[in-house]
Amino acid sequence: MLKPRYYITSAIAYPNGRPHMGHAYEAIATDVIARFKRLDGFDVRFLTGTDEHGLKIDQAARAAGMPPKAYVDEMVAPFRELDEALGISFDRFIRTTDTDHKALVQALWQRMAAAGDLYLGRYEGWYSVRDEAYCDEGELVTGEDGGKLSPQGTPVEWTVEESWFFKLSTYQDRLLALFDSQPDFIQPTSRFNEMRAFVAGGLSDLSVSRTSFSWGIPVPGDERHVMYVWLDALANYLTGAGGLDGEWWPADLHVVGKDVVRFHTVYWPAFLMSAGIALPKSVFGHGFVLNRGEKMSKSVGNVVDPAAMVERFGVDRLRWFLCREVAFGEDGSYSDEAIVERTNADLANGIGNLAQRSLSMVAKNLGGVMPVRGEAGETELRLKAAFMTGSEAYFAAMNALALHKALDAIMGLVAAANGYFAENVPWALAKTDTARMAEVLAATLDAARRIVILAQPFMLASTAQLLDQLGVATEARDFNGFNTPVAAGVRLPAPAGVFPRITLDG
Ligand code: MSP
Repeated sequence: MLKPRYYITSAIAYPNGRPHMGHAYEAIATDVIARFKRLDGFDVRFLTGTDEHGLKIDQAARAAGMPPKAYVDEMVAPFRELDEALGISFDRFIRTTDTDHKALVQALWQRMAAAGDLYLGRYEGWYSVRDEAYCDEGELVTGEDGGKLSPQGTPVEWTVEESWFFKLSTYQDRLLALFDSQPDFIQPTSRFNEMRAFVAGGLSDLSVSRTSFSWGIPVPGDERHVMYVWLDALANYLTGAGGLDGEWWPADLHVVGKDVVRFHTVYWPAFLMSAGIALPKSVFGHGFVLNRGEKMSKSVGNVVDPAAMVERFGVDRLRWFLCREVAFGEDGSYSDEAIVERTNADLANGIGNLAQRSLSMVAKNLGGVMPVRGEAGETELRLKAAFMTGSEAYFAAMNALALHKALDAIMGLVAAANGYFAENVPWALAKTDTARMAEVLAATLDAARRIVILAQPFMLASTAQLLDQLGVATEARDFNGFNTPVAAGVRLPAPAGVFPRITLDG
């Protein structure tokens, strides 16, 4: 049977510095969704990469005394390495300097021009290089020193130059109709409301080319201009789908941070409407991760290197922590203390303990052979009911992209399974009734198996090791295998702890 398709993308990062925790967080969250969909039987395409043109990169390259292409070639390496360290299962790492992308963006431009939506004019207004965004006077805020800042709090400069414009203003009604007919186009709801209000307030035409620098994709037919970096960047999703009529288009989900929701839910659908291309099905705007509640910045000196966090805590702990602690869609905070506390509680004491206690009893008392399950008694029926409700809650949460709620559901299952084990005192039964002990162990191991199967999108090597120890065949690890217990008689490998407790001082 043909698998249904699922095309998911993350934002593409500016490689004008080293990747930070915000980049790691987005990559992890997107990867969790991609892995969930694969386990759920979808043929998934996952696109990520880097956004390499524009004034911001041009300036950074100048500051580094390098030609821009040589600069990005060097700067992209730590982004790729971070993806590798985090176990990001992308299908393509796109760079907007890739040749196929350049051709695609020019073809997209030509379609928008053919639709009569582009005209030559002159931009006079504010521009934030840091955000690569044009800002209306009305949205500017005043900084501590009285200077003007973009709504994101970044410096703006007055810019005057010849520019091609896109007739964004004519798309207001179509965008409102889109939002109203498809409320899950923008998730979560808070971001939907914000964007709807923004569009309802009226739209100005958008400057989509620049003439004051040349680091970008040339405008076809008017090579004095390079395209506005956001038009170039957003089109990466089409390049990654296989082209303007790409076989993977439309995307099912764009995962992006809250600061770039406007580009993805207002400009992007309008460009696509203009070019006569189908729209992505939805955009999820996640929140920001903060270091102890504070925004990371070079000037505050609290920028944390995610690669160092992986080294220190291990990738699975970091993935688990970020998805559990930060409600997906909202801002959240991390600190070393919180990571230690949370992962000791959930992983060492929770999942790890459940697996270790039952597996070591099987090794010690039953020769390491999977025991036979008994007739379900009262405690088994209760456990079964808890698993019915809990796994339904998990799937509902994952399908609604409430990653943190899915992890709540998993921890509910862990509590139910550990409760079942404690209630049935198998260590006491070892002396009085080994047949019943074996039944209790079989039921506990099966509960652990289900929990670990559901935890797989979040954790990589540790879930694989646990499933090995639980005797689960490789082909029985996706959600199809969820209801297939390991057969009695299967010989289990010697158990070994997968989640040792960690301390702050390492
Ligand atoms: N290049 C643009 C995106 C173009 S997508 C067609 C960009 N790059 S970025 O490097 O600044 O940010 C990349 C992603 O990381 C964005 O989705 C952004 O919201 C996200 N984050 C940046 N800082 C973040 C945090 N502190 N926390 C969580 N995500 C954050 O924007």
